[in-house]
Amino acid sequence: MNFINFQPPHSPLQTLKDASVSGKRVLLRVDYNVPHCPETRNITDSARIHASIPTIAYLLDHGAKVIVLSHLGRPKGKIKSHLRLEKVAKELEKILKKPVKKLDDCIGPEVEKKVKSMKRGDILVLENVRFYPEEEANHPEFVKKLARLGDIFVSDSFGTVHREHASTAGISKYLPSYAGLLLEKEMKALSPLLGNPERPFLLVVGGAKIDTKIGILKSFLHKVDAFLIGGGLANTFLAAQGFNIGASLCQKDKIDMAREMMLEANKAGEKIILPTDVVVTDVIASNSKTLDMPIEDVEGALKIVDIGKITARRYRHLIEKSKTVVWNGPMGLYEYAPFQNGTREVASAIRDTKGITIAGGGDTLDALKRFNIPENSITHISTGGGAMLEFLEGKTLPGIEVLKKIM
Ligand code: 3PG
Repeated sequence: MNFINFQPPHSPLQTLKDASVSGKRVLLRVDYNVPHCPETRNITDSARIHASIPTIAYLLDHGAKVIVLSHLGRPKGKIKSHLRLEKVAKELEKILKKPVKKLDDCIGPEVEKKVKSMKRGDILVLENVRFYPEEEANHPEFVKKLARLGDIFVSDSFGTVHREHASTAGISKYLPSYAGLLLEKEMKALSPLLGNPERPFLLVVGGAKIDTKIGILKSFLHKVDAFLIGGGLANTFLAAQGFNIGASLCQKDKIDMAREMMLEANKAGEKIILPTDVVVTDVIASNSKTLDMPIEDVEGALKIVDIGKITARRYRHLIEKSKTVVWNGPMGLYEYAPFQNGTREVASAIRDTKGITIAGGGDTLDALKRFNIPENSITHISTGGGAMLEFLEGKTLPGIEVLKKIM
């Protein structure tokens, strides 16, 4: 299939162009789940904030009152001060060059009062919706409290369309709902890969969100030529192969699933490629001492923090000779200088690949910026991580379903 000439089908979604926003209170769901420096808590990459600007500008230019909803991190229904949205709102204010009010809650009488006093062209940011357990539970009472704040709902949070949460899907039961410009753009850019991508087709996956990613990998088993696995995800697979992974991050309850997946993958040819050497340390810090060792030698208190040099070279070689590469998730704890090599190698291999390249996810965007990978060297940079993968699986995504036009 020719990726460049592919014409995606006409969007079946209600989009901003179908909406009349003038003078309306627009509840805008964005994905401001941006990476932070583990030490200073400063935002290290604001690409997701920048990506929301076209929709915000459109709404403000058309006289809307914009009420921004987002999550940050996984606070598990509790207030976590380091996951408040102050820094995000400040960054938005800096980019928009106009005042952005930030509230300390996302529902309740105080919030309703502030929203009531808004004028056309005003913008405010509500507090992290995930401070309420009802957000992820998509609890009807919470949904109603959110919906009370707006006249219409605009979803521009591509990164969370795979989540059936109150602010990503529930709200559409109560408010006319539309896709924002970023959501439309992402779907248009990724749709061509739903067909029959050029082969070899590689999926490079890392990062720490093992629980959500293992299931996604399973459904790609018969679509890709190979998976290159790194990051925390690789440890669970290595443990499933019987390796001692020392004190490394590992999701023990997914080991059986990883083992089953490897058996199935073996039947279809050698598809799951894992690190054969790794970088280890006993202390995670920016001045850690590290060792590069064969996976067989890991033991005791050692923590795997990156793929090793031999593995990184092999991954680079495989990426460069592929025709289609999708990358999500770093190969190690790339935020710390001593553990960056694997992620840097993958990022630069993707830059140098002649085939179609797609990279997405909060940390992946951060890594691309950190390693100075020019945007125009990648076919599409997606704001979605898990959402991008689930979209490419061809799955029905709750945050998209609710925006479909009623025919
Ligand atoms: C992401 O970073 O992929 C999105 O913000 C979704 O976050 P989640 O995996 O915590 O739902």
